[in-house]
Amino acid sequence: MSSLERASGQGPPPFEPPVEILSSLSDSIQAALARYAAASTAQEKTSALKAIQSTSSKLSTATSPIQQRFMELNARPYLNVTVRIALELNLFEAIPAFGHLTLKELAKEINASEEFIFRLVRVLGAFEILEVTYPPPNHPPNHLMSLAHTPMSRLLISPAAKASFRNHFEILLPAHLSSAPGYYHKYGFKSPEDLKNVPFTFAHGAQDEGFFDLLVKDENKFKLFNDAMEIMAVLGMKPLGSLFAFDKLVSNEDGVALVDIGGGKGQMLKAIQEAYPHMKGKLVLEDLKAVLDGGVIVSEDVKLQTYDFFKEVQPIKGSNYFLKSIIHDWPDEACLQILSNLAPAMRGHPHSKLLICELVLPDQYPEPAKVVRDIMMLFIGGQERNLFQWHGLLQRAGFKIVNVHGAGGDNSSIIEAVLDE
Ligand SMILES: C[S@@+](CC[C@H](N)C(=O)[O-])C[C@H]1O[C@@H](n2cnc3c(N)ncnc32)[C@H](O)[C@@H]1O
Repeated sequence: MSSLERASGQGPPPFEPPVEILSSLSDSIQAALARYAAASTAQEKTSALKAIQSTSSKLSTATSPIQQRFMELNARPYLNVTVRIALELNLFEAIPAFGHLTLKELAKEINASEEFIFRLVRVLGAFEILEVTYPPPNHPPNHLMSLAHTPMSRLLISPAAKASFRNHFEILLPAHLSSAPGYYHKYGFKSPEDLKNVPFTFAHGAQDEGFFDLLVKDENKFKLFNDAMEIMAVLGMKPLGSLFAFDKLVSNEDGVALVDIGGGKGQMLKAIQEAYPHMKGKLVLEDLKAVLDGGVIVSEDVKLQTYDFFKEVQPIKGSNYFLKSIIHDWPDEACLQILSNLAPAMRGHPHSKLLICELVLPDQYPEPAKVVRDIMMLFIGGQERNLFQWHGLLQRAGFKIVNVHGAGGDNSSIIEAVLDE
């Protein structure tokens, strides 16, 4: 709106996106749809679906007035607030697995006010998180609204999805919220470099302590964080298992085929064992003592090894090393320290592989849902890296990338690297 329009109170001109632009976007969607229909491989189907998705999103943007888009952007956090309240109420569990129930029945079931639940489900319906069928117009006895599951509401029942939401609200977002007005003004508008001085530590008024130092001191938060990490297992780690031929890894002289460094409860090792039940060689799960003491989910044949990747050189030599969602937790200098503690174990062992399982952002035009995760990682000074950044980081650490398995996939890829000796 120009200052003249504002002054005259007439508001912006009518919103009339050019028909040619809309029909060209629509043609692109049709073309991608035809590619999808004719696709014969899973890869072709995925690529066509992605094209439909990104062009539909462009079409939606082109047909939405800026006022509407601003309101959607500005109010977006309240969708997450709605879901958070619904999770606290166990609202999604109360919806029958098959079939419908009315708003009145739901409110009774979860012991909440009908009027309040109406406000929540109206939002959940508008964002297609619940399937909501309204009574006929002009006859709005809201208690007759009919509610049913969608794939998303079913997913939100899983303990890991709940923990993941609570993790955002109770651990991550408080750090982000205080960092924008405080941390960056104090330390500069740049990515945190010192892992002991990041938005998370700032939010806790801590000095010289990193995210994990603080987290392990709070038993409940630590448990919540680790439970939240299991969401990736719920979303499906099996495809990760099949991204790389773990059964072809060469074991070291003690018969150890794979060491999962910072493997948490062992969710990925479990998925690998399920994907390769006849895999030869022993598996080792390494993490901080507090994590391993907190209980693991791997079978008894997996060796547990307490290990601090900042303080110790890797004790298991000449094996293969898997790091999933570790490097993205830290600034470059800290990653170099982790990798420099690993390199001596691989030196002189040509079969020894470094397998990094992480999101690999494309160098250009990353998808919204992927790239926004990079900002999430700011709270501890971590970051999501694109292929260019991965090459640069690993080169500085003395490694070279030999392959990226599953590049362009929806979640993690597996970067296969060796020491550049
Ligand atoms: C984001 S979680 C990833 C867990 C698991 N790899 C996964 O992808 O599900 C990061 C893991 O790094 C571990 N960790 C953090 N600092 C560590 C350290 N100094 N030494 C070893 N592990 C550490 C945490 O305990 C946690 O299990």
